[in-house]
Amino acid sequence: MKIIKAIKNMRQLSKKAKTHNNIIGLVPTMGYLHEGHLSLIHRAKNDCDVVVMSIFVNPTQFAPEEDLKKYPRDFDMDRKLAESAGVDVIFYPDTKHIYTKDFSTFVSVENMDKIWEGKTRLAHFKGVCTIVGKLFNIIDPDVAYFGQKDAQQTAIIKRMVKDLNFNIKIVAMPTVREKDGLAMSSRNKYLSSEERKAALVLYRSLQEAEGMIKNREKRSDNVLKRIRSMVKKERLARLDYASIVNHKDFSSVSEISKTSLIIITCYIGKTRLIDNLVVV
Ligand code: PAF
Repeated sequence: MKIIKAIKNMRQLSKKAKTHNNIIGLVPTMGYLHEGHLSLIHRAKNDCDVVVMSIFVNPTQFAPEEDLKKYPRDFDMDRKLAESAGVDVIFYPDTKHIYTKDFSTFVSVENMDKIWEGKTRLAHFKGVCTIVGKLFNIIDPDVAYFGQKDAQQTAIIKRMVKDLNFNIKIVAMPTVREKDGLAMSSRNKYLSSEERKAALVLYRSLQEAEGMIKNREKRSDNVLKRIRSMVKKERLARLDYASIVNHKDFSSVSEISKTSLIIITCYIGKTRLIDNLVVV
C-alpha cells in the first residue's frame, strides 16, 4: 500500500492507472476508521482495480464552535486497517496544500444545503462539496463510495456530480450498526457509558417508525409524533430534528411512500448524532 501526500504524485498515479484502463475507486474519509468505512473499502475492492482512500480532516466543513481540533485522529491505526482491508493508496494531503493561503473558490449545492443538517451546521455542506470536488479533480476516480448514514451528504454529492457533470458513479452503502443497533460513527467515541445507552433511542425510534409504516401508517405527522415522544422519554437525549423526507431532495413529505426517508438527529449529552432509515 502506498501513502501519497503530494497532489502532484496522486495525479501521476491516477493518470498511470488510467493509461492501463484500471478502474479507480475512491473512498473519501476523515480517518479514524470504523466498520462503516471498511464496508465502503470492501465494496470498492470488489468493483475496482485500484482503491484509493483519502484521509483528510476537512476544516471548511466544521463551524468555528465545532469539534475540528478534538476530532479523533489516529493515522497509525487507519494505515493498518486500510492495508488489511486491501486499500492500494492512501491519499493523505496536508491542509496547507489543499487550502492554499489565497484559496477562495467554494462549491455549494443551493437550497439542499440549507435544510436539516445544513440549518444547524451552516457552512457544513459547502465545505463537504468543496473538498469532495477537489478530491474528485485530483484523484479522478471512476466510482466514489459514501455511507447512507450521512444520507443528506450523499444526496447532495449526487446532485453536485449531476449538476457539475463529474463523470463519476456515486455508490451509497448501507449504514453499518453496532450489535445493539447504534449507527457506527467516529463521534460515538465522545459518549460516556450512560450516554452510549441513551444513544440507542435514535435507532429504537426509527424501528418504531418502521413498525408503524409496516402496519400501514401513511401519515408522517403520526409517525413523527411517536418518534418525538420516545425521544422525550430519554433523559439524556434532546431532539434536534426528526422528519420524513423525499430521499432525493430532502423536502418533507406528509404522505409516506417508497421514496421516503426517516431522518433523526439528537444531542446525547453534548454529542450530536444522526441516523436515518429508508422506507421499503
Ligand atoms: O463523510 C465524511 O467523512 C466527510 O464529510 C467527507 C465526505 C470525507 C468529506 O470531508
